[in-house]
Amino acid sequence: MIEHLNNLGISALAEVEQAEDLQALDVIRVKYLSKKGEISLLMGKLRDLPQEERPVFGQKVNETKALVEKALYDKKEVLENIELLKTLENEKIDVTLPGYQFYQGSIHPLSQVIEDVEDLFVGLGYEVAEGPELENDHYNFEMMNLAKDHPARAMQDSFYTDENMLLRTHTSPVQARTMLAKKGQPLRIICPGKVYRRDNDDPTHSHQFMQMEGLVIEKGLNFANLKDALLKMARHLFGPERGIRLRPSYFPFTEPSVEVDVSYIKKDGTIGYIEVLGAGQVHPNVLSMGGYDPEVYQGFAFGIGIERIAILKYNIDDIRHFYTNDLRFLAQFKGVGQ
Ligand code: PHE
Repeated sequence: MIEHLNNLGISALAEVEQAEDLQALDVIRVKYLSKKGEISLLMGKLRDLPQEERPVFGQKVNETKALVEKALYDKKEVLENIELLKTLENEKIDVTLPGYQFYQGSIHPLSQVIEDVEDLFVGLGYEVAEGPELENDHYNFEMMNLAKDHPARAMQDSFYTDENMLLRTHTSPVQARTMLAKKGQPLRIICPGKVYRRDNDDPTHSHQFMQMEGLVIEKGLNFANLKDALLKMARHLFGPERGIRLRPSYFPFTEPSVEVDVSYIKKDGTIGYIEVLGAGQVHPNVLSMGGYDPEVYQGFAFGIGIERIAILKYNIDDIRHFYTNDLRFLAQFKGVGQ
C-alpha cells in the first residue's frame, strides 16, 4: 500500500510538472485530490490495515496530499504568469508608432474676420442682426434714402429677379428692417452677410462679396462716438498701433459721410493709409422712415467689406481665392485668429 501511495505521489508530481495549461492542472487535481481522487481513496483503505500501521499510513497519505497540493499551487502560479505574459505580448501597444492622420478643417478666413469683428462689437453691447439676401427694392434703396430715380443707384446696380426684388447690394437694408422691428427703441446692431453687385470679376472685385453693417441709434450720439467705434475696430482688427483717417464722402443714407482709412507702415518706413470702409451719421430721412424722430434720436452707421479686411490682414492677392475652396489656400488659415 505504501508503495502504491508512493507511486501515486510520484506520478502526480510528474503530471503536474508536465501540465501545459491551467485546464490540464485542474484535471490532475480532480484525478488525485478530489473526494474520489486516487490519493483520497487510499484514506478509505485505512480500515484494511492492521491497527498499528494505520497512523503511519494516514500520515503518509496526508504528506503526499500536501506535497501534490503544493506542487499544484506552485505550478498554477507559474502557468498564470505565463498566461499573463502572453496576454501582454499580444496586446502590446507600440507608442512610438505614428498615429492615424485625421484631417482637421479650419475656419474659413472670411468667417474668422466676421467672428473677430462680432467679438469686439458684442462686447460693446451690439446685437447681431440678419436679413434676407433676396431683398425688396423698398428696403435696399428707398428706405435708405435712394428714391427710384436716384442717380446713386447706379453705383450699386444689381441683379433683379423682377421689378421689385433684387439680390441686396449692401447690408444696409438690415438697418431699415431692424429700425422698424425695434419700434423706436434705441439699438446697437451689427449685420454680417453676403451682398451682390454687377461688377467685373477681377483680382479685387467679385459680383458677390460680404459686408458687415453697423448701426447705433441712441439719444445724444455725435460724430465722436462714431470715430471712437471705428478706431476701436481698426485697432482690434489690425493692432493697437493703428490710426484711422476720415475723408469726406457721400452716401445717400448718411450725412455727413466718410470713407475710413487705416494707417500702416510703408516699406520705406513712412505712414500710408488704406481705405477699409464707409460710414457716417444716419441721415434724418432714414431715421424718420425707420420710425425715429431725428430731433430726438441720432445714429451712426458703418459698412465694412469683409474680404477687404481679410485681404489686408492676411496679404492676399486675389479675392477669388476666398470662393474657390482650394484646400491649399484654406489650410493656411488653420489656427489663425482662433
Ligand atoms: N452701404 C454702403 C456700401 O455698401 C456702406 C455704408 C454703410 C456706408 C453704412 C455708410 C454707412 O457701400
